[in-house]
Amino acid sequence: MCMASSPSLSFFLFLALLAVTTTAIQSSSTKEHTNTIHLHFYMHDDYTGYTGSKPTAIRIITMPKTSPNDTSPRTFGDMVALNNVLTEGPSHKSKHVGRAQGFAVRVAEGGTVSDLSLHLVFGQGAYNGSSLTVHGRIPMDQPVRESVVVGGTGHFRFAKGYMLSKNYDYNLATGGVVEIDVYVIM
Ligand SMILES: *[C@@H]1O[C@H](CO)[C@@H](O)[C@H](O)[C@H]1NC(C)=O
Ligand SMILES: *[C@@H]1O[C@H](CO)[C@@H](O)[C@H](O)[C@H]1NC(C)=O
Repeated sequence: MCMASSPSLSFFLFLALLAVTTTAIQSSSTKEHTNTIHLHFYMHDDYTGYTGSKPTAIRIITMPKTSPNDTSPRTFGDMVALNNVLTEGPSHKSKHVGRAQGFAVRVAEGGTVSDLSLHLVFGQGAYNGSSLTVHGRIPMDQPVRESVVVGGTGHFRFAKGYMLSKNYDYNLATGGVVEIDVYVIM
């Protein structure tokens, strides 16, 4: 008797919990959907100085190669600091919309994967003075890399979302132009 009634009680409890959970998911996804902001721009990861008088990306730690056959221009353990220009179009002469400031550590052999910490600081329009903080794993052998927007300041307080980056005109030795899409919800 006891055994027979107990499963049906847990079943109703389960249904009740399911209803609560479903409602919570629906209301949060509706809210997120209505507040999505899409930002599109280009980042100049400039190790050579083509955007101005000096580079905006510099290697601050250069690790020795672990194999003489390693011909990659990057090495596991290399560290770089970034103060890159963000532009509206792919040319560095197009309108400047902000800067990407942060650092990256190469976390795979050949330096093809980076652990990236970046602040996107906007200097134009409605978002002037606001910033987004991004943390990501960047595998350079992938056409599209996804990073996490972990927060923001100013207009972007309490922001979360994701950033997609892909090479526009780029190589591992000298850097170049990276196309960026950011999707933010608040
Ligand atoms: C480097 O490459 C050569 C030729 O492919 C190979 O014989 C040698 O074992 C490699 N050395 C290392 C340290 O991997
Ligand atoms: C952005 O904000 C800074 C600091 O408040 C200000 O000096 C600058 O003129 C602003 N730029 C634009 C394009 O609004």
